[in-house]
Amino acid sequence: MRAVTVDYTHRDLRERDICLPTLEREGDVLFRVLETGICGTDRELARFQFGYGPQGSDFLVLGHEALGEVVQSSTDAFHPGDLVVPIVRRACQPPCSMCSLGRRDLCITGRYTERGILGAHGYFTDFAVDDARDLVRVDRSLRERAVLIEPLSVVEKAVALALSLHQGEPKQALVLGAGTIGLLAGAVLQLRGLAVDLVSAEPATSLRARIAEGVGFRYLSEPERNKADIVIEAAGAPAAADAAIEALAPLGVLIILGAKETAGKVPLLDLIVGNRIVAGSVNASPAAFGHATEDLPLLPEQLIRNLIERTGFESYRQTISGPAPVAPKVVHVIA
Ligand code: BGC
Ligand code: ZN
Repeated sequence: MRAVTVDYTHRDLRERDICLPTLEREGDVLFRVLETGICGTDRELARFQFGYGPQGSDFLVLGHEALGEVVQSSTDAFHPGDLVVPIVRRACQPPCSMCSLGRRDLCITGRYTERGILGAHGYFTDFAVDDARDLVRVDRSLRERAVLIEPLSVVEKAVALALSLHQGEPKQALVLGAGTIGLLAGAVLQLRGLAVDLVSAEPATSLRARIAEGVGFRYLSEPERNKADIVIEAAGAPAAADAAIEALAPLGVLIILGAKETAGKVPLLDLIVGNRIVAGSVNASPAAFGHATEDLPLLPEQLIRNLIERTGFESYRQTISGPAPVAPKVVHVIA
């Protein structure tokens, strides 16, 4: 069967023929991959900035955002025809205390694997097998948007963390970045009753700005200082991290999702005297996947329609290594 891979010997992106997976253990479920979404992580993987293949393999099958349809199941938990979304991360072995508790997203050893990213093949291929415990069931009615469940789960974890850390009554949210994560974060914060400002580098006439305004966010070119109760940084740039910290109101909580460093100094005194909190977050808990499936049907149709652009299997070079696509989320239709 076909698979899109990063090849560590030839240092390129290439399609190769790999073996069809089969049910091996009690609990295994075989599914046909219907769609796989591309994100910044895939683009980093293709530039060899991040990630590695399974032990003994000189390539990695890409694809960690997937929607599948069950073909064969060794457990009553799933039946042929069921729609499923795989959870990306697998526990470290032997499992650490957090992995044992089912919170592999909080793994403390760093020896976890992630399908399509770190040490385990992904889903940019025709079929895959996973343990039933690594699959989330999706209602048929969500077929058109279900490929967003994985990125939405990352957002759900971050938003829940932010709200749980806030010590007052958060009303104003700020999101930095108008990619999929930023736009979904704004939408979830709106569902939680907050007013949403979204700041991004694209001009106010860009598609992304229009998507943001279309769903009721205020689109700004730079954040207001000291105003935001909840800030989600999803821009990935050092300057965004600085702006995010400066935007925090007293008691404000900032969750960093993308930026790897700040550009300037972190104003610790402002954090202290304002009881402000800055935290990082990665991946998603099983509960966050649950919240994603609950919130997905509530997201505005207009947002979903403008967010996703679908393309075929073959255009992977363009979508992963080409210039950044206009639509925030490119999805490859595989079956
Ligand atoms: C994925 C996460 C993953 C992270 C780091 C993201 O693109 O959505 O599930 O933990 O990359 O590998
Ligand atoms: Zn991703």
